[in-house]
Amino acid sequence: MLGNFSYSNPTKLYFGEDSLKSLNKELPKYGKNVLLVYGGGSIKRTGLYDQIIKILQDNGKGIFEDAGVMPNPTIEKVYEGCQRVRENQVDLILAVGGGSVIDYAKAVSVSAHCEEDPWEKYFRRMVDVDNPIIPVGCVLTMVGTGSEMNGGTVITNQAAKRKIGHVFGENVFPKFSILNPVFTYTVPHYQMVAGFFDIMSHILEQYFSGSDDNTSDYIMEGLLRSLFHSSRIAVKNPTDYEARSNIMWTATWALNTLIAKGKSTDWMVHMMGQSIGAHTDATHGMTLAAVSLPYYRVIMPYGLEKFKRYAINVWNVNPGGKTDEQIAQEGLGEMESWMNEIGLVMNSRDLGVTEDMLEAIAKGSFILKGGYKVLSRDEIVDILKASMAL
Ligand code: NZQ
Ligand code: ZN
Repeated sequence: MLGNFSYSNPTKLYFGEDSLKSLNKELPKYGKNVLLVYGGGSIKRTGLYDQIIKILQDNGKGIFEDAGVMPNPTIEKVYEGCQRVRENQVDLILAVGGGSVIDYAKAVSVSAHCEEDPWEKYFRRMVDVDNPIIPVGCVLTMVGTGSEMNGGTVITNQAAKRKIGHVFGENVFPKFSILNPVFTYTVPHYQMVAGFFDIMSHILEQYFSGSDDNTSDYIMEGLLRSLFHSSRIAVKNPTDYEARSNIMWTATWALNTLIAKGKSTDWMVHMMGQSIGAHTDATHGMTLAAVSLPYYRVIMPYGLEKFKRYAINVWNVNPGGKTDEQIAQEGLGEMESWMNEIGLVMNSRDLGVTEDMLEAIAKGSFILKGGYKVLSRDEIVDILKASMAL
């Protein structure tokens, strides 16, 4: 393990079929007024909304609602949420949904008492929070982002065509998260598999960096093997509890700071994916799926040892009599087969990308330096072209 680091994670998790009950343990810790934040209505259709309202009422809470958080939440919506928090003197934000709802709740939590424009402060100047933060609690209904146990919040500015993530510190992590795998059964197939790919991408973004012998890499190989195994079961039978619960747990560990320890980390797939999202509003995991293979094929020669290790340790590629490059290519080939098998979108045209957008998407992709190769703007354009099969 290289470098010096500290590790702690303040989010309390309640996992399993009975976990919603634990809301009764958490609610008394906060003041009276709760802002219930949710998305476009799935929680009403599944009945979760009624269950949560009842628990809030039983705990004597004043209930305020902020509904309609869209996938890829916008800064305009954040401004609205901030006003609602201030008007109702909210003591706790309870986010019930997927990554978009939780990210939004965190953005509102740091912005409601922010005297400047939060877009400028947190997403343009990347300044840390120095004003009061409203505590956030979560009930997770869609698996993928890891937002339930991290400080990330990704917000879209539609006017500026920018989708930007700010990774805050422990003071912004959710105070608690309730993880019941059964709540994820109703997620539509398209969203479900996009979430699976998001999990894989979070792990690979951290795995494909560095060349030292690092415990984090061994943890990641285990998480990846579990994900590939369970995802194949879940696509055939979405109500397989064992598979859905393993995936839920893997997703949380894929992006809660643990596996980044001792790693420089890459994150270029996310930079390009987010920029595609800013221009198309496409589903996050699908934007990553469209650029991943073209990107990895470009950087593979620069991180050949690691790509070979990925092929052998994660995909069981038999190295006998093959060159390192053949082994590494075979690993990526296995990954491509898995992507096709679970039904991911592999071409960015299918997400709404058109050729005239490519320069702007490339310009909106931050270039990071932690991976095996620092890309040039032209290489990003080439990767985007390859993602359209041009
Ligand atoms: O809005 P509702 O009606 O709830 O429907 C949602 C939404 O349409 C639906 N859904 C969620 N749970 C459901 C369900 N439908 C039926 N049954 C359920 N149980 O699923 C759709 C997608 O939800 P969303 O929250 O947008 O998905 P996801 O969890 O993938 O979140 C994506 C957002 O998170 C950001 C992404 O950029 C994107 O904006 N990310 C956040 C990260 C973080 N905080 O660390 C890291 C990630 O890399 C990612 O960037
Ligand atoms: Zn992601």
